[in-house]
Amino acid sequence: MRQEPIFTSWLPRHAELWGHAPMRLKHRLHEHELFTNEALARLVESYPREHYNLVQWGEHGASGSWREGEIRGLSGGEIIDSIAKGRVWINMRNLPTVDPRYGEVMNGIFEELEDYMPAFRTFTRKLGLLISSPLSRTLYHADLPGQSLWQIRGVKRVYIYPNAAPFITPELIERVALSGVEVNMPFEPWYDEHATVIDIEPGDMLHWPLNAPHRVDNHDCLNVSMTMEYFTDDIRRTHMVTVANGILRSKLGLKPRERTITGPAFWSKAVLQRALRDTSWVKRQNRARRAPEFRLDPTRPGCVAEIEAA
Ligand SMILES: [Fe+2]
Repeated sequence: MRQEPIFTSWLPRHAELWGHAPMRLKHRLHEHELFTNEALARLVESYPREHYNLVQWGEHGASGSWREGEIRGLSGGEIIDSIAKGRVWINMRNLPTVDPRYGEVMNGIFEELEDYMPAFRTFTRKLGLLISSPLSRTLYHADLPGQSLWQIRGVKRVYIYPNAAPFITPELIERVALSGVEVNMPFEPWYDEHATVIDIEPGDMLHWPLNAPHRVDNHDCLNVSMTMEYFTDDIRRTHMVTVANGILRSKLGLKPRERTITGPAFWSKAVLQRALRDTSWVKRQNRARRAPEFRLDPTRPGCVAEIEAA
């Protein structure tokens, strides 16, 4: 038997809006037993190194100064205290793999969504948890899968831009698909005049149209947020066309205009990207493999200690 519903504000109109407009829904995960301060401390304390990225940010907007670190010798409470006082964020990826109880929560969310939207079927579901320092920023970028953002603690301001030119173009999304790097997209300050701007607090969830660029500014407080990704059959087909068009454009000098996800044009692109996606033409960068340069300093909360290169 299902527990209490996770969504607390779903209305019939949300099924019509889903994927077509940015939308905010209410949820109750911030009060769930897996998201208490104690549960979060236990989770982060033992999170496997291969499944997290700890990143220290430099000056705001200077993405080139980000560097990777690791956690050793701190309790979960000390880690969270250090993030609250520091200038870092930790992205705990693959939550359902590391702790299947969070996978049950994720599947419960999708079951509810499928109840509300019978045609909505997802696969390659992913869930991550982001704990970030006050004033942390996520720069302007776009993601390939369907996305939602769930606020557990703290407040952040999310800017969501139209998923259309000039904010995002087929060329830009192809570049993301071929390189695996979502950031370093061109951004102009006036884009903000066209953004949907929403401050989210604990109990808020945001969902936005596929590939819609977005950026995030934490308020001056510790933030805990959950990120959820998924593919539907249409999103998977869109991704295959994006990869194929990217290959045609960047490797063969063609100018693909078709983005259809059915019929012969789709299937020939499906074959093309399938044949080439594991070659050097599609070089996805693996950011999880960067060597750690620092660790959280156990003796000085909010500070980091350098790791000497081996
Ligand atoms: Fe994103």
